[in-house]
Amino acid sequence: MTVHDVLAEEEVPEGGFAVVQVEGREIGIFRIGGNFYALHNYCPHQGAPMCAGRVSGTTSPSGVYEYEYGREGEILRCPWHGWEFDIRTGKSLFSDRTRIRTYKLSVGGGRIGVVLGEH
Ligand code: FES
Repeated sequence: MTVHDVLAEEEVPEGGFAVVQVEGREIGIFRIGGNFYALHNYCPHQGAPMCAGRVSGTTSPSGVYEYEYGREGEILRCPWHGWEFDIRTGKSLFSDRTRIRTYKLSVGGGRIGVVLGEH
């Protein structure tokens, strides 16, 4: 297991993200509700750079003629074909089996590190 120090916490604003390079991988680090999440900057569909997509919410199941929008700031939408993913888990909203690779982070002392070599 190796921790790669990449950013200061303050470099990732609440509701925002930063893209870092670690051992040839491009990783997006997001901040939601004061917590940090790391996603591979690569869509599992056709490889779009996910961090070029929009952070938004999504519609939830609702009745006919009803429109329920929620989870603002928790969903990342692929810039190419619009697949939606939960930033916290990397899972797509349509299947547990389709997901963006996530990475463990080490956060402390005002710094963020990406943990590699741990499964
Ligand atoms: S490349 Fe991401 S949805 Fe198609």
